[in-house]
Amino acid sequence: MPVMMKEAIEALNVRNNLDYIDATFGGGGYSEEILKKADCNLLSIDKDPTVKNYAKKLKVKYKKRFTFVNDDFENLESIIKENNKTLISGGIVADLGVSSFQLDNAERGFSFNKDGPLDMRMSGKGTTAQELIYSLDEKGLAKILWEYGDEEKSKAIAKMIIKERNKEVLDTTLKLVKLIKRVKKSDNKKKHPATKSFQALRIATNQEFKSLEKLLMISEKILSPGARLVLITFHSLEDRIVKFFFNEITGKQENLNRHLPQVIKIKKVKFKVISKKPILPSSNEIKSNRRARSAKLRVVERMVI
Ligand SMILES: C[S@@+](CC[C@H](N)C(=O)[O-])C[C@H]1O[C@@H](n2cnc3c(N)ncnc32)[C@H](O)[C@@H]1O
Repeated sequence: MPVMMKEAIEALNVRNNLDYIDATFGGGGYSEEILKKADCNLLSIDKDPTVKNYAKKLKVKYKKRFTFVNDDFENLESIIKENNKTLISGGIVADLGVSSFQLDNAERGFSFNKDGPLDMRMSGKGTTAQELIYSLDEKGLAKILWEYGDEEKSKAIAKMIIKERNKEVLDTTLKLVKLIKRVKKSDNKKKHPATKSFQALRIATNQEFKSLEKLLMISEKILSPGARLVLITFHSLEDRIVKFFFNEITGKQENLNRHLPQVIKIKKVKFKVISKKPILPSSNEIKSNRRARSAKLRVVERMVI
């Protein structure tokens, strides 16, 4: 079951005859719930072409009410145009990051527990994690591990990788894990030593923050009054991007951080906060699904002005 599904669908406020976007289709759990909840129209997006089969099943069941587009959500504006829409009346939901299907398939290279190629591309296109690692110098690699993974041993891991990558080709997940473990020998038992580095390399390989920033900017433009924007994030950096953006569009605080997306001069505050604090998963969900432990849901609504 996808993380925080009940909370996310509730936050989206699904109503009859309105248009919704599920920007991260995955296994289609959220999408199906939206379609069940009301007689609405749903356009779902995923950059991973392997999810098409799940989408086909929903298409058979929900026919005209459901459309699937295999693309990056950063292209949301052109995607809705191609589907004859300029505004979204109901809302947009994005459950960010990697799916359990992607994590569980060793061939995709997302998992530090399974041996597979050092790939990590959600779309199956572009630069692989292996190519990324070989394209960077020690400083650049350390920067990614630190900035996208909060990896406190980023410099030492980067040094190790650069030193070893030309001795034996670094082309599998477990070869990378072995190098990381040489640096992080006595790390805490609860967290795998490669967790942070894998997260950082995945974010960099898929340029996740760039896409998220674009999605936020477009959503601000295309949501109709009364429509909701619901984001589920999985780590602090991602949540910070959403939080700053929401603070800015709800008039709570100007975005002074030049690294975060800047809303193009909002003259009037057009959004209101639905939940002041981020909504967190229940303790039961955290117990049954470890991935839920870092989830945070934030929601805003376009005001009628
Ligand atoms: C956590 S899963 C979503 C699970 C989904 N809510 C469900 O009910 O099954 C995230 C999905 O978003 C997709 N994704 C991540 N970033 C994306 C992007 N920039 N554009 C389109 N899809 C993206 C991934 O390929 C993955 O399938």
